[in-house]
Amino acid sequence: MSNSEQKRVQSVKLPPDKVMHKLVSLAKRRGFIFQSSEIYEGLSSCFDYGPLGSELKKNIKDLWWKSMTRRHQNIVGIDASIMMNPRVWEASGHVSSFNDPMIDDKTTKRRYRADHIIENHIEKLRRDGKDQDALRVQGRYEAAGGAKDSNRALYELIIAEGIKAQDTGSGDWTEVRQFNLMFQCNMGAVADTASIVYLRPETAQGIFVNFHNVRESSRMRVPFGIAQIGKAFRNEIVKGNFIFRMVEFEQMEMQYFVKPGTQAEAFEAWREERFNWYTESLGISREKLHWYKHDKLAHYADLAYDIKFEFPFGIEEIEGIHSRTDFDLKQHQEFSGKNMEYIDQLTNERYIPYVVETSAGCDRLFLALLADAYTEDSVDGEERVVLRLSPKVAPVKAAVLPLMKKGGMGEAALKLRDELSTDFLIQYDDAGSIGKRYRRQDEIGTPFCITVDHQSLEENTVTVRYRDSALQERIEISRVKEFLAAKLV
Ligand code: GAP
Repeated sequence: MSNSEQKRVQSVKLPPDKVMHKLVSLAKRRGFIFQSSEIYEGLSSCFDYGPLGSELKKNIKDLWWKSMTRRHQNIVGIDASIMMNPRVWEASGHVSSFNDPMIDDKTTKRRYRADHIIENHIEKLRRDGKDQDALRVQGRYEAAGGAKDSNRALYELIIAEGIKAQDTGSGDWTEVRQFNLMFQCNMGAVADTASIVYLRPETAQGIFVNFHNVRESSRMRVPFGIAQIGKAFRNEIVKGNFIFRMVEFEQMEMQYFVKPGTQAEAFEAWREERFNWYTESLGISREKLHWYKHDKLAHYADLAYDIKFEFPFGIEEIEGIHSRTDFDLKQHQEFSGKNMEYIDQLTNERYIPYVVETSAGCDRLFLALLADAYTEDSVDGEERVVLRLSPKVAPVKAAVLPLMKKGGMGEAALKLRDELSTDFLIQYDDAGSIGKRYRRQDEIGTPFCITVDHQSLEENTVTVRYRDSALQERIEISRVKEFLAAKLV
């Protein structure tokens, strides 16, 4: 690095429980995430992405879309409707079995997930050093999960242990009942059962029902994939943790249709590719990613793994990779009466393809990126907050800063900003000391600060400051665009 100035960057170790609090506050202050309809006290588990948040989210989705559809000639994308014929959800099993066990407190009128109430209780016993009790309750909890009437068994466990709601201390419980997680609405003017439609709880079914449409229109041959990014809705009771679990969220799903018998091989290949995407394309720390193999499988799967991320509040799922067998296409064949078979043109074989699914949550990934990137350190003794986001996902790619507004530097900086803005999201800032302006950019993860100074006017050069190292180098103004482009591939 030429003309570089060595800075001393010293990191500060932050306790994980402090990080979430700081992230939530930064997200609001700098326009990443706001509570939905905040001026009306918000709406539980609903959030709005602000100017920087929507840019960051769009970058995540663009990277995913490119990695799926551009890098694979046999994967195409669709954008299916959120509302679908209600028979779709009967076929998929969501009407009959997309349920959570819920319990109501008659005194406080609050509703909880019965399993969460018990898990929180076990956690508390452990925190209080009552490991034997925790083990005993855990054993009964596992047995309740496998019981014939598990709702009754969960209820009996809650009553026998005297478990209370941790937020209110109350425990005036109803029986445990199953609640379907799908949001219902009525289509048309009449509110009768014939007009019930659901907001989709996953994007995957929009792909399955379009299997033949996409295959025929795009002349796809098995193995091929269909990718989709879109909103999904689940009426979940949420434990907190900011945007980790929402009722309205966005999924990035891909269904890969393969010949029966070849699913294990496809599954392994996707497992590897998806894991590497997090580190290579998004720059997430390798050591914070974990595999989790499902022993208890969903009704449609014969193999399932999750990619989990070490959030400040625990290790949690960000993506599921599922071998879904031929369950979905078979179900749609049965419920729609339409043949879902594929005919291999070369061998004349007929079969219903098996499916390997990769299903990532965009909002969870957004939170994982923020949590991974959030750092506090000091540069030459001066403390700062830095989002160490990969330049590829960072919302603002560079800030153009005139050392001073006067003396022609302001005009030159604005000219450079306009030139760069055709290709990148650029911020111009001339308010306050240069140090303060660097800090503002560090805090939102801008990877490069480009300073226009006296020398710039004489020599047509600028300084580029690197966010993470705070090192600087001087480059020609005419090279800035190509410099940024090279950093973003
Ligand atoms: N089609 C398969 C499917 O929907 P899932 O494991 O239920 O599988 C996939 O969801 C991903 O969607 C999860 O790994 C998670 O990232 C995201 N997701 C699921 N429920 C969510 C919620 N309530 N809020 C935010 N993201 C959610």
